[in-house]
Amino acid sequence: MNVLFQITLITFWLTYCTAVYRPTAIIHGIMFNPTDRMEVLKRAIEESQPGTTVDVFELWFGVESFLPMWRQVSGFYGSLLDFMGRNPGPINLIGYSQGGLIARGVLNVMANHTVQRFISLSSPQNGFHGEFYVPDSVFNVGNEEKYSGSVGGFWKDPRDMIRYKKEGRFLACINNEYAHAKNQQFKTTMCKLEQLVLIGGPNDGVVVPWESALFGYDDANGRVTNMEEQAVYKSDSFCLKTLDRRGAITRYIVPGVRHPDWHNNASVINSYILPHLLMLLFCCVQTTAIIHGIMFNDTDRMAVLKNAIESAQPGSVVDVFELNSIPWYGIESFLPMWRQVSGFSASLELFTRRFPGPINLIGYSQGGLIARGVLNVMPNHNVKRFVSLSAPQNGFHGEVLLVVLERYDPTHMSKYKKEGRFLACINNEYKHKI
Ligand SMILES: *[C@@H]1O[C@H](CO)[C@@H](O)[C@H](O)[C@H]1NC(C)=O
Ligand SMILES: *[C@@H]1O[C@H](CO)[C@@H](O)[C@H](O)[C@H]1NC(C)=O
Ligand SMILES: *[C@@H]1O[C@H](CO)[C@@H](O)[C@H](O)[C@H]1NC(C)=O
Repeated sequence: MNVLFQITLITFWLTYCTAVYRPTAIIHGIMFNPTDRMEVLKRAIEESQPGTTVDVFELWFGVESFLPMWRQVSGFYGSLLDFMGRNPGPINLIGYSQGGLIARGVLNVMANHTVQRFISLSSPQNGFHGEFYVPDSVFNVGNEEKYSGSVGGFWKDPRDMIRYKKEGRFLACINNEYAHAKNQQFKTTMCKLEQLVLIGGPNDGVVVPWESALFGYDDANGRVTNMEEQAVYKSDSFCLKTLDRRGAITRYIVPGVRHPDWHNNASVINSYILPHLLMLLFCCVQTTAIIHGIMFNDTDRMAVLKNAIESAQPGSVVDVFELNSIPWYGIESFLPMWRQVSGFSASLELFTRRFPGPINLIGYSQGGLIARGVLNVMPNHNVKRFVSLSAPQNGFHGEVLLVVLERYDPTHMSKYKKEGRFLACINNEYKHKI
């Protein structure tokens, strides 16, 4: 195998990712009220990401949630602007049910939004034409009234598409299905998303057709087609196709969940929501320590490996331990193993203090055994990945210039296991205190 390829592989293995939590804002659905403030979801996120800000925007309680979409968007716009002000940097946005459509509206009108991930939780993203209970106190239920109030904003009867696309209708507007002054901005603001997660399922019972949650829809004959078949996808009118081509869209079809339960269902939260918030894993600053083998010296400081890792992981820190205070170069690398372990333990301790996060450790040749010794004597080490590069991990009985203490001669096992021998010790092959 080509050496560069091998180095690339090693580098890949060493790519240790650290979770970076983003503040998360949540926009509720219809009939949000003081007894259901989406607290289950909020708490689940907070618990899985200690220290993260999670806000459920408290606006438009109860029947107010039936107010026209743009009116609600304008309110939530203020909430998100305030949230962004308090939480500079990228954020996540979750919209549940109607809230997922309001969320899109808010994103569209906020050219400078900082939402990186948007999770749509059973939202009728491509419209709705099911049975719907609308309280009389908001407006009388009737065909015409379906077109006023919030639901009217995304009501889409596949047998009456002309009406759906009539100027001013909320969904047709944010879908850029007719020409308006903000077409380009509505597209750009969607393209800014790093990830769009769409969650829905066949047992929803409210979103009709349920496929709308995944940007599917049915036609006048009741035939459902998926996102890729929709005109708005094909024309890329609001960036759906671009996002999809970029691999930025994740769709989950989750059976067994009724509409009111999505945000309270632990399995939905754990399997489909949290991973996407936690997937804000950034292969960010990597820290890697390297322990050299025998005859390490000024002309061979493992610089090829160090440089390869550094260039593959810009900003990373790679230290080849050189034991500045006691140079173990060259012949000194034949000093007894425990003595070397104590030196390298000090190096790792120092390294850990400089970089308290998870670190990678590479041990090359004898260094791989020293590394194990170091790990063994540091109960609180934070080495998450250990790469042993051609280290005689299970002993050695070849030709060497000097007698080394990891020597393992299968014909003299009693000698190998004699108390005090380094390898038999770290292999726990005889009883000792630690
Ligand atoms: C985004 O734009 C709004 C409206 O122009 C402005 O009030 C706000 O300060 C801007 N936020 C950022 C982070 O630039
Ligand atoms: C919770 O979600 C799972 C799918 O992840 C589903 O199988 C189950 O029926 C749901 N339970 C409730 C009470 O909604
Ligand atoms: C330095 O290390 C290289 C590679 O192991 C070896 O070939 C060379 O002889 C060493 N130099 C000295 C002065 O020990």
